[in-house]
Amino acid sequence: MPKYISIDKAVELLKNGKVIALPTETVYGLAGVASNEKAIKKIYSIKNRPKDNPLICHFYGVKQIKEWGLELNEQEKKILEKFSPGPISLKLQLPKDSKLKIATAGLTSVIVRIPSNKIFKEVIKKTNMPLAAPSANTSGKFSATNAQMVYDDLGKKVDGIIDGGTCKFGLESTIIDASNPKLILILRPGPIGKKEIEGLFKNKIKVEHSKKKTQTPGSKYKHYSPDAELIWLREFSKLDFSIKTKLLLTKEDKLKWEKSKYFNSQISIEVLGSKEDSKKISKKIYQLFYQLDKEQFQRAYISKLNTNNASGSANALVERISKAINKE
Ligand code: TXA
Ligand code: MG
Repeated sequence: MPKYISIDKAVELLKNGKVIALPTETVYGLAGVASNEKAIKKIYSIKNRPKDNPLICHFYGVKQIKEWGLELNEQEKKILEKFSPGPISLKLQLPKDSKLKIATAGLTSVIVRIPSNKIFKEVIKKTNMPLAAPSANTSGKFSATNAQMVYDDLGKKVDGIIDGGTCKFGLESTIIDASNPKLILILRPGPIGKKEIEGLFKNKIKVEHSKKKTQTPGSKYKHYSPDAELIWLREFSKLDFSIKTKLLLTKEDKLKWEKSKYFNSQISIEVLGSKEDSKKISKKIYQLFYQLDKEQFQRAYISKLNTNNASGSANALVERISKAINKE
């Protein structure tokens, strides 16, 4: 098996119940045909994913969603019209005898997404089936945002990987429940934020971040963490370099660090970008986690980011980093 495979090879493998990794605009996905029990079982086993954690199903478009018997209400249609294809996922009711139940860990709801990544779109189109795809990483670890990360983590277990370069957003999709016409719940923050969704409905529908931690079964498991201990950077005076440590600094903090009396030129630094530039930082955050582990850093301090006037990506980024810090 070559290290990386073509789109046509991926389609052939998927049609035969195999499992392949491929790029999406958010993070790499580990895909199998959503109604194929063998493929779904294999996804769980490759990831070592708890059995009660359902998979997101990816569709080519609204037409295919409807063909699979899923119904959309007015606000759901409007959300998909505005933000899809793209980094948003919707929780929908699953019809009783749906074959997608294989991918939903027995739940009566399914989360659907219409990806915009060209490679993924072509794969769904040619397979002509919805594809279940969790992020392509061992459960509990951060997601992969380039093909090498997938290869290092899952390489020998998957039936193939399509190399599509670095993912555009670098963070997992926003998951929302828009089944209630009065209140839209954000179950997982992502690239599309609360303000954008509120804007779409001209503030006529309330949009809230769900407070229930178990709205998505996956959120009760450990997530997003590098092996290195990650800590928010507070004061330079409190930094402890007794073990192999890296500083992940915003441009602003780097300048301060270099002028500080605690500055130590032996300590390795990685510049995140400006503290205002959450999009840029999101795109590379998991690659920085990967690099930390690869270089066997034991600890990393990370700069606080600006979340005043926060965009979707800023919120999602801080949520992911906080979870990695707390190893939640
Ligand atoms: O951007 C993304 O959404 C990526 C790419 C590959 O599309 N996928 C992704 O999948 O992040 P995953 O499996 O890593 O995260 C999906 C989350 C999990 O926390 C899971 O518990 C939740 O969605 N989920 C899936 N189906 C659900 C359902 N029917 N009801 C509630 N939560 C669900
Ligand atoms: Mg995941």
